[in-house]
Amino acid sequence: MRTIGVLTSGGDAPGMNAAIRAVTRTGISMGLRVVGIRRGYNGLIAGDLLEMNLRSVSDIIHRGGTMLFTARSPEFKTEEGMQKAIRVCRETGIDGIAVIGGDGSYRGASDLSARGIPCIGLPGTIDNDIACTEYTIGFDTALNTVMQMIDRLRDTTESHDRCSVVEVMGRDAGYIALHSGIAVGATTVIVPEVPFDIEKDIISRMQTAQGSGKKHFIIVICENICNVSDLSQDIEKRTGIETRATILGHVQRGGSPTVRDRVIASQMGFHAVELLAKGIGNRVVAMKDDHIVDYDIFEALRMKKPFDRQLFEIAHTISI
Ligand code: ADP
Ligand code: F6P
Repeated sequence: MRTIGVLTSGGDAPGMNAAIRAVTRTGISMGLRVVGIRRGYNGLIAGDLLEMNLRSVSDIIHRGGTMLFTARSPEFKTEEGMQKAIRVCRETGIDGIAVIGGDGSYRGASDLSARGIPCIGLPGTIDNDIACTEYTIGFDTALNTVMQMIDRLRDTTESHDRCSVVEVMGRDAGYIALHSGIAVGATTVIVPEVPFDIEKDIISRMQTAQGSGKKHFIIVICENICNVSDLSQDIEKRTGIETRATILGHVQRGGSPTVRDRVIASQMGFHAVELLAKGIGNRVVAMKDDHIVDYDIFEALRMKKPFDRQLFEIAHTISI
């Protein structure tokens, strides 16, 4: 292994820059040449490369987004696109790649590994929805952003004795909703992992809380479950409490990474290069019991992430 590439793929996440920095500096410190690949697998196909030195990654550890840009690349999923990417690796001397992204990006990394370019995946997504790891780079920053936004919403919700329904990201996973819901004291948290009933889980909980004097309510709901404007109108109709819907959207993906994201991204970046330097590929870096570990990509993709039902119960026990 003489030259390693590094790329970010799929949705960006705060902390990706810290991971790029760690990969670059660890690689250089081991005597490797490091090449940045812009815009994910699209950049690999197009040969959009950036020669990295120690200073290329100065002043990025505190920045959200990704200095290498990111993309979703339908072309890379085709055999022709994959062959183009391999040709670029051969022509430019890239022997292995650190791929920072989610499950989809790992599948691409696995395909490349199978064709002779060892790749190591690093979990980068705000959703924390990658089964093999307890933690994904970006989750903590996104949670803190959501918490700050909902704290602000609470001021106006409380002033008007209203209910706020807040839609957060997560794609098909409720980790952002659950953790932020606990942090902001939401009356109800709605996640895809647990079916919900509007009467039982929202209306009657609000009415019970009203009975002990509560006058304003926050409902946190994961995206892709229902139309939050319709849900808000329904709540207002059934309870008589003025209700507003807020969709936090992509603001959740931005911002300066928290300590946790910077430290874990740095550890994972270091670990990925240790593997690549030994010529090891087709593995993903993960967190288990607060330690950095690695798994075979196929094994990782087969894993199922359990939903923390106990945390879900706690959220609802203490928020009424
Ligand atoms: P994420 O990595 O966040 O899960 P995507 O699912 O969009 O994001 O995947 C990112 C990119 O990884 C895709 O645009 C594609 O280029 C590549 N990819 C996804 N699935 C596969 C696959 N089955 N085979 C090869 N490449 C894939
Ligand atoms: O995976 C991260 C994420 O932000 C999800 O929470 C969300 O569903 C999706 O990406 C949004 O993707 P896009 O940026 O393509 O709209």
